[in-house]
Amino acid sequence: MALRTGISSRILRSSSTFALRSMSSWWRNVEPAAKDPILGVTEAFLADPSPDKVNVGVGAYRDDNGKPVVLECVREAERRIAGNLNMEYLPMGGSVKMVEETLKLAYGENSNLIKDKRIAAVQALSGTGACRLFADFQKRFCPDSQIYIPVPTWANHHNIWRDAQVPQRTFHYYHLESKGLDFASMMDDIKNAPNGSFFLLHACAHNPTGVDPSEEQWREISYQFKVKGHFAFFDMAYQGFASGNPERDAKSIRIFLEDGHLIGCAQSYAKNMGLYGQRVGCLSVVCEDEKQAVAVKSQLQQIARPMYSNPPVHGALIVSTILGDPDLKKLWLKEVKAMADRIIGMRTALRENLEKLGSPLSWEHITNQIGMFCYSGLTPEQVDHLTNHFHIYMTRNGRISLAGVTTGNVGYLANAIHEVSKSA
Ligand code: LMR
Repeated sequence: MALRTGISSRILRSSSTFALRSMSSWWRNVEPAAKDPILGVTEAFLADPSPDKVNVGVGAYRDDNGKPVVLECVREAERRIAGNLNMEYLPMGGSVKMVEETLKLAYGENSNLIKDKRIAAVQALSGTGACRLFADFQKRFCPDSQIYIPVPTWANHHNIWRDAQVPQRTFHYYHLESKGLDFASMMDDIKNAPNGSFFLLHACAHNPTGVDPSEEQWREISYQFKVKGHFAFFDMAYQGFASGNPERDAKSIRIFLEDGHLIGCAQSYAKNMGLYGQRVGCLSVVCEDEKQAVAVKSQLQQIARPMYSNPPVHGALIVSTILGDPDLKKLWLKEVKAMADRIIGMRTALRENLEKLGSPLSWEHITNQIGMFCYSGLTPEQVDHLTNHFHIYMTRNGRISLAGVTTGNVGYLANAIHEVSKSA
């Protein structure tokens, strides 16, 4: 017995030495991660003590005083929800009511696909979560597939499909000289991709460029997708922000549906309802029939379960309360339009200010582009200059978030842009 105790305490001692040694070295190889190219800008902005500082980095709407906005329809929904409901888990696929209302926004109030229950849809953690769920689903059920991503795109798209281990390819999108769409090269890339490829498309208000195909161009894209048997995955993060009208902004998707495509779609309420931190959105996949939709939904739920089990309830309640009540929905539509209109006004103001300063460059693209962003054409060095000398914060690709431009700072911003770009 004494012998046995001696041996086991020796084993214990040596294994705990091992444990101590390995514990101290567990994270020794961990290097700091690179700063996020978008959210890192906010961090730098917050750390700057200058009273002149301007944040046109992250795409988050501000009012004309530069303050975050909570929509009145959201406040009213919160009043109705408060104290009225329990805090039970949602199902793995999220709020059925929220998902139903969300599908109507993307697919149309009278969509036959909805009536025929052909859409597999789950609540997602905003647009990012919806994209990530889809990327994992794509990897699981089409393991050899790739995703074609526009150049440029929202930086996080690359991270999402990378972490889902889906190989990425790119397709032409933005035309450097015209600061518009490179439609011819985009169509070539669509034609040259192997049949049955997956493509990521921005449904409207392309981030970061603010450049969308025209209706006619969408029709041609859809036609070519049909010819090639490609799969279109739409990221619709800005429905309502392009034109001020969510119906109009869903046009690209509706064109694809008219042509009979089985699409996928990520929706988010971050921007159009201002529910940024609530992380509420939806992933939908159009299927051949109801049976397939049931199967696909069950698999999407199974992907969600080990990741976060089920989505949060509060944001979903806000959305379903607003969209389920005709008066609140009307108020929401009015408020989205007001946000879009303020941004359109700021585009004009920024361009006019630059022109008044006698800028030798053309700033027409500021008003040609749409949505929350202007892809200014400023170089990374010019952006650094703006930050270091003028305390103006934006992503280094030259994207200006018009949501951060106000009547109070537009003159300062224009002047600084003029200073850094006039000798270019
Ligand atoms: C942006 O592009 O600024 C937003 O979509 C915020 C984000 O998460 O990157």
